[in-house]
Amino acid sequence: SRVSRIISTGSYLPARVLLNADLETMVDTTDEWIQERTGIKQRHIIADDQVTSDLAVAAAKQAIERAGLAPNDIDLVLVATTTPDKIFPSTATIVQRELGITNSCPAFDLQAVCTGFVYALSVADQFIKTGMVKRALVIGAESLSRITNWSDRSNCILWGDGAGAVILESTETGEPSAGGIIATHIHADGQYEQLLHVPTGPSRLAQSDDVAERTMNMKGNEVFKVAVNTLSRIATETLEKNNINASELDWLVPHQANLRIIKATGKKLGLADNQVVITVDRHGNTSSASIPLALDQAISDGRIQRGQLMLLEAFGGGFTWGSALIRY
Ligand code: ACO
Repeated sequence: SRVSRIISTGSYLPARVLLNADLETMVDTTDEWIQERTGIKQRHIIADDQVTSDLAVAAAKQAIERAGLAPNDIDLVLVATTTPDKIFPSTATIVQRELGITNSCPAFDLQAVCTGFVYALSVADQFIKTGMVKRALVIGAESLSRITNWSDRSNCILWGDGAGAVILESTETGEPSAGGIIATHIHADGQYEQLLHVPTGPSRLAQSDDVAERTMNMKGNEVFKVAVNTLSRIATETLEKNNINASELDWLVPHQANLRIIKATGKKLGLADNQVVITVDRHGNTSSASIPLALDQAISDGRIQRGQLMLLEAFGGGFTWGSALIRY
């Protein structure tokens, strides 16, 4: 049977770093409060002359180079993003052009907020399993700083910008146990729209010129409770459905929203702290970019090794949530 294997990863963080100390000069907050409640110490912020596709292209170039591929070896470009460059065309088509992919392969964006990358992996995996696609470039890229209300202290401390990419390749006679995506599980429940959203969009116009209309609104502590419960549930359900014992897991690669949420999920699975990949301290919450950024870091620094078993999980606006169980 056909299996999707991760053949390479790449990532990109914009050069500018915003420290908690910088935020202390912008809103009524402290480094201590931010670290205690979120685990975040700093985040990267996109340059004025950059857009999301620039971050995505940088991450993708690294992944393509590391795989030893030519751009036209890619036959699907999928970009998970909440902050596309433009209303249209999709960021994925811009990325396709900038990478020099001229083979007319399909390219599209996918929006599932912080669960976007897990959704995109799941979608790419289906295309590979059916035989429609041989190599998929799956990117999570965000410039959340552009939809952040920098005067809302309960919110602006959380977000960061960046991009991560993976290349999936079809292995024709593979078994997931030999390496590849074993399973993905994706979910949504639209009744929670109001707890985490940007009120305006192309078809829903601002009711006032208040900046809050154009930026992220979040009822943080209500989202927190649902996130902790949902992530613990999907993590244990994913293992159960695939007949895997938590003790067989080598790594948890979670969406990086809040250190307390991540630790709760790790604890629920009985994992040691050093089996959980953490980047939220340095990246903040980069939404759909957070998992591929974390994955790339832990693979690049040699922590995640070929043959190891990892669980990816995410939760975000919608609400949406999902998981991917992967033998690297
Ligand atoms: N500095 C100092 N004090 C602050 C700050 C700040 N930056 N922000 C809020 N406070 C104050 C509040 O005003 C409140 O004060 P009060 O008790 O006098 O009213 C107090 O701190 C506690 O506020 P809470 O909002 O209850 O703080 P909480 O512990 O819940 O932490 C946080 C807030 C960090 C936002 C947390 O709720 C959280 O991480 N939520 C989940 C985020 C998440 O996972 N989102 C989903 C993924 S993101 C996506 O999909 C785009």
